[in-house]
Amino acid sequence: MPLCTKIKFKKSLYEIIKYDVCAFYHSEMYLFLTFYVIKLWQMRDDFFLITNQQESDLIENGFVPLPQIKNDSIDQVEINDLIAARDKIYTSGTDFHQKYIKKKGIYTKLKKDLRIIAKKYYKKNLEYNDTYEITRITKGSQKSESYLGHFDSHLFTLVTPILIPKNSSKESGQLIVFPKIRKEPKNELINVIDKIFYKKYHSKDRFTQLMKSKKYKEFDFTDEVPVLFLGRVTLHGNRGFHQEMENYRITLLTHFFDPSPKYGIGNILRQIRSR
Ligand SMILES: [Fe+2]
Repeated sequence: MPLCTKIKFKKSLYEIIKYDVCAFYHSEMYLFLTFYVIKLWQMRDDFFLITNQQESDLIENGFVPLPQIKNDSIDQVEINDLIAARDKIYTSGTDFHQKYIKKKGIYTKLKKDLRIIAKKYYKKNLEYNDTYEITRITKGSQKSESYLGHFDSHLFTLVTPILIPKNSSKESGQLIVFPKIRKEPKNELINVIDKIFYKKYHSKDRFTQLMKSKKYKEFDFTDEVPVLFLGRVTLHGNRGFHQEMENYRITLLTHFFDPSPKYGIGNILRQIRSR
């Protein structure tokens, strides 16, 4: 292309762009684009996985079912391996749990959503990587595991059912929660004092007594739908088994964000447990 043609071409291109930018600036397109830029800015806090309704249910009721992260493909061989490899009731960091976390975006999506909620409602300084995974494998005959009412140290607890005995017994390890039975403790001292006060519900008699006077919710998990609850303010425990003593019950417990300091009671207990 001769030089003069090149210059002409560049000049005309410049004119076109200049004209288009002006026209664009004065047109409805400009408003349209501005609207979308604002919308995108507002959307920066939108959730990846949970819905706005689920967010308000969690905060208002203290718990919310999350059918979107149901563990939909259960391989019996994997379950058998999990049972065979267990050496205690609570096992941390199993491959099975990690696989579920990866498959359902628990740490890539749900954790991000929960961080937004934690900041919004609790205004806590959170360690984003603070999560705690436990695979809970119980058998009918383990009576010691029933009605141990307690609070978790982490803000959010996700219970994902994996293997649930299919029977209609009233005592088959159902989860019982007393949502928001206490307020979020203002500091670690109040947290410890509260925990000592509620320690008395670490027995079947006291726990069932409390069920008569306080509002509670029971989950049998036969629908296999995971439940997310506010772990620090929700007293919770499991029923025992009276039938089918040979059956196993497996749940994945995923905890998010312990706001207590490193010397906090929850952190110390976890350090002891992991030894
Ligand atoms: Fe718990």
